[in-house]
Amino acid sequence: MCGIVGYIGRQPAAPILVEGLNRLEYRGYDSAGLSVLGPSGATTLRRVGRVRDLEAALPRRLAGTVGIGHTRWATHGPATEANAHPHRSEDDRVAVVHNGIIDNAAALRAGLEAEGVTFSSDTDTEVVAHLVRRSDAATLDERVLDAVDRLVGTYALAVVDQADPDRIVVARNGSPLIIGVGDKEMFVASDVAALVRHTSSVIHLDDGELASVTARGYRTFTRDAADTGRTPTTIDVEAQDVELGAHASFMAKEIAEQPETVARMLGGRLDTRFGTARLDGLNITPRELRAFTRVKILGCGSAFYVGELGALMIEELARIPAHAEAASEFRYRNPIIEPDTLYIAVSQSGETADTAFAVREIQRKGGRVIGLVNVVGSTIARECDGGIYLHAGPEVSVASTKALTHMGVGFALLALLLGRVRDLSVADGQRIIAGLQRLPDDIAAVLAGEDRIAEVARGLATAQSLFFIGRVRGFPVAREGAQKLKEISYRHAEAYQTSELKHGPLALIEESLPTVAVIPQDELTERNVAAAEQIRARGGRVVAVTHPGVELDGVADHRIDVPHNEPELDPILLMIPMQLLALHAAMTRGLDIDRPRNLAKSVTVE
Ligand code: F6R
Repeated sequence: MCGIVGYIGRQPAAPILVEGLNRLEYRGYDSAGLSVLGPSGATTLRRVGRVRDLEAALPRRLAGTVGIGHTRWATHGPATEANAHPHRSEDDRVAVVHNGIIDNAAALRAGLEAEGVTFSSDTDTEVVAHLVRRSDAATLDERVLDAVDRLVGTYALAVVDQADPDRIVVARNGSPLIIGVGDKEMFVASDVAALVRHTSSVIHLDDGELASVTARGYRTFTRDAADTGRTPTTIDVEAQDVELGAHASFMAKEIAEQPETVARMLGGRLDTRFGTARLDGLNITPRELRAFTRVKILGCGSAFYVGELGALMIEELARIPAHAEAASEFRYRNPIIEPDTLYIAVSQSGETADTAFAVREIQRKGGRVIGLVNVVGSTIARECDGGIYLHAGPEVSVASTKALTHMGVGFALLALLLGRVRDLSVADGQRIIAGLQRLPDDIAAVLAGEDRIAEVARGLATAQSLFFIGRVRGFPVAREGAQKLKEISYRHAEAYQTSELKHGPLALIEESLPTVAVIPQDELTERNVAAAEQIRARGGRVVAVTHPGVELDGVADHRIDVPHNEPELDPILLMIPMQLLALHAAMTRGLDIDRPRNLAKSVTVE
């Protein structure tokens, strides 16, 4: 969704802002803009389309060492130049960039218009520029405080004012905002990706917090103007983590990285001797862990599907009833929160609004919620009572791949720990640990077969519609396979439980509707093969994602073999060919892999 970047220091601001905006492109946007404060006043430039269009329109030498920039994803009003940020006061003195939604914008706008203010956009953000300008407080800090006092809604704001040109004032409520600390220069961003090239020293602002940033320092404070005295922390993201390198897309890069990132994630977390996992960040004692009688997992989209996989792992290894639900539904149904249930929020970005809301709803009702989150310091990570960081590194592609694999591994670790404080034997725990240790090599083995999977994907790319089927452990894999294909290759794909096919959808089977069938080597193999046979008998094409040695009796047109690990961990590996099928189907269709239409990397609006 929208992105914010800001710079104040000794260097020309414009190139740094443009570079930051380029790094925020992956979040999805439809227009971009920047304002730079220079010796002869402010220059604001906005463009519909790509950041490169904005860059091309910049004056050759744009003086000024203070500025703010933005990539916009339209919410209030269409994607036009007038609606792109920064928004300004009528006299151009104040410029504002904003992520989030101001709920009372219409009322504020009516009030300002009644006072004679002329608006030049349809956006909710523009009210902020006018409110800051019309405040008669002495300093910019106070003027921004006056403005945010009147706002209802979510925001990350960055404000500059020509009357106080050596300062950027920022405010956060419900939308991420980070300050980057450099050497006599400071950065502001909604996402670390925008500042990793410059600094690894950052402050994640809290909701309700503001900061006044100058080239030499910063002051953080609350809405009551009380200092919060925040000190920076160091992030472990490197510039090359958010660079493409030799890969054709970030999705391809992130798929390829998985053997290495999974090995890194497991480092220090496996206790081979006792056959258990070390998860210090949970902040839950073994006694407390034992006392949970139920587990509830909440996430959105693909994170929800991996959550379904997590629930199965927890039931299998720990024998605790576990269930996953879409956080986007949970939050709207006045959920019953039970004190002996362990709630788990799962999110790559840690900023998904629906998941964050679910966390707050659980906590409001006295529940205990832990997070499985990738982005360190993100909203969900900070608001949960404890958790497991996924350590997948930055994920730039809109379609999630490696973070989902890491979620699967995170759930396996948690299931192992929950099992070992209950009835899972040391030997079984050690069996799972050995399986986890094999995962990086097993993933590498799947990736080694990429050319063959690409060939299969090319055959599937022409189909208008596809089925993905699986049962029990294989069903979340099928759901994720269908999701990934829909998302980036714009083909209709429907996931179905293999067992349910005969209760209706079998009627759709014909040559033009291929089926990707998950057929692992497990207690259900025969039944899965029989279902594939029914599809074949009705003229349907079948691609089997399976294990070596599974006898398919000629029911599959193509087979994709995945190394057999431990049954509980196999779904993690079975998801990898799904990533490659989607990637290559979209490549065959010549689509923009990393920026699928209508989608954004983190869905921070409701
Ligand atoms: C699919 C995808 C989305 C996300 C979902 C949750 O490839 O990326 O379905 O999984 O929007 O996002 P996070 O994990 O950031 O909460």
